[in-house]
This record gives sequence, structure tokens and C-alpha cells, in this order.
Amino acid sequence: MKAQQTELQDLPPGLKRELLPKHVAVIMDGNGRWAKRQGLPRIMGHKRGVDALKDLLRCCKDWGIQALTAYAFSTENWKRPQEEVDFLMTLFQRVLRQELREMVEENVQIQFVGNLNALPRSLQEEISRSMAETKDNRSIRFTVATNYGGRQEILQACRAIAQKVQQGLIQPDEIDEAVFERHLYTAGIADPDLLIRTSGEMRLSNFLLWQMAYGEFYITETLWPDFDRVEFHRALCAYQQRERRFGAV
Ligand code: FPP
Repeated sequence: MKAQQTELQDLPPGLKRELLPKHVAVIMDGNGRWAKRQGLPRIMGHKRGVDALKDLLRCCKDWGIQALTAYAFSTENWKRPQEEVDFLMTLFQRVLRQELREMVEENVQIQFVGNLNALPRSLQEEISRSMAETKDNRSIRFTVATNYGGRQEILQACRAIAQKVQQGLIQPDEIDEAVFERHLYTAGIADPDLLIRTSGEMRLSNFLLWQMAYGEFYITETLWPDFDRVEFHRALCAYQQRERRFGAV
């Protein structure tokens, strides 16, 4: 296992290192609207969305945030026009291929969560390769939710546990939160402390339903391709003002 070799940058004014979230999740909304405002086809918004995501990953790493999770494609996104779905699948594959070397050099661990079996075979292969080549990297854990749905994730965990009960491997009264979490796609990843959603929508949209039980929400009107370090700084400042009580007084 590689040590965490990252050289942390000084934080911008107003941020306290000890209050940084350990894990940030993002719903990258507004790519289509961004493109429309520029008079461009929707797919151009997704292309610019990739640049915004790359910048955010670098920023998290520079500032010492240990995990970033991005909602790239939901189980409901298949309902989009076929050509947009095809474009997104090709984009994911191309970006993975282009960025893998840098992720290895930068000590980034990438992993994918979701029902990956339903993705195009060539994308599945690229995903497996990138996960295998970065599995020992420790500067930041970057999780991409692809063909992900929170309800589906919970259902498949239930099925897996029910099978173990049927086989006598576990007793029903042994099923607690820890056992359940081990059967989620996100097993081994700490819950997000902060979820950022761009473009003003105030919904969870089937993202990390179990994991966001105590996570803080930050909603901004900014469209995803315009979400930059200044915006992220603002989100972190707002987060650091919150008092997290986890149900206590
Ligand atoms: C939502 O905007 C965005 C998406 C469904 C796609 C997000 C994907 C990326 C930014 C690419 C990530 C790439 C990798 C390799 C992880 P929208 O289309 O719903 O925008 P709208 O609400 O304005 O229509």
C-alpha cells in the first residue's frame, strides 16, 4: 500500500483544516442548461462538466479532503435520448482512458459504484482496468456512481443478505447497520459529510439514500460546468458554519 504522499496546499481564507469534510459528494446538475445558455448542444455541457469535475478532484486533493464521490449517471438517465446516452457512455470511456496515467501519477484511487454489468462491455473493461491500476493509491478516493440508484443499491443488499440467511450463513437478528453497510456498493467508504448539488434543484434524486442519513446538503444555483474553486470554497465555508449533532442536542 502506498503512503499518502500528497503535499497539501494552504487553505484559502476562512477555512479551518480540522473542520474540513472528509468526504464530499456531488450531484453535477445543469450541464444541459449551461450548454443551452451558450447556444451549444447539450453534449457540450457534459464535456465542460468533465473539466469541472477534474478541477474539483484536484482541489479536494490539494486541500486534503480524503474522498470525493460524483453522480455521473443514474439508473433513470437511460430515459434520455439515445444519442445523449451514447455520448455519455463514450465520454466516460474516453475520459477514463485519457486520465488514467495522471490518476496513477497523482496517487488517486478511482472506483465505480452502481449496476456496472448493464454498461457497454468496452466501458466495463476500462472501468476494471482503472480500478485495478489505482487500487493501492491513497492520496484521495474518487468514486464515480454510474448506472447508480440508491433504492436499487438497498434492494440488492437485501437480496444478498436474504441469500446468506437462506444458506444459514447469518441469523436474521445478526443483521445490524454494520452488516447492512458491508453489502452496499459503497462498502468500506465512509459516509459523505457534505453533498453539493448544483443548478438549484433541492432533491436527493435517488443518490446515496442510506449513506446521506446525516450528511449536510449544500445547494447552489450555479450550473455544474461553472462550479469552480471559488464556488467550492463558498460551499466549504457554509459547511463549516453548520453544527452537526447527529440526532443529539
Ligand atoms: C446532469 O446535467 C449531468 C449528467 C447526467 C452527466 C454528468 C456527467 C459528467 C459531468 C461526466 C463525468 C465523467 C466521468 C468520467 C466521471 P443535466 O444533463 O441533467 O443538465 P440539465 O438539468 O441542465 O438538463
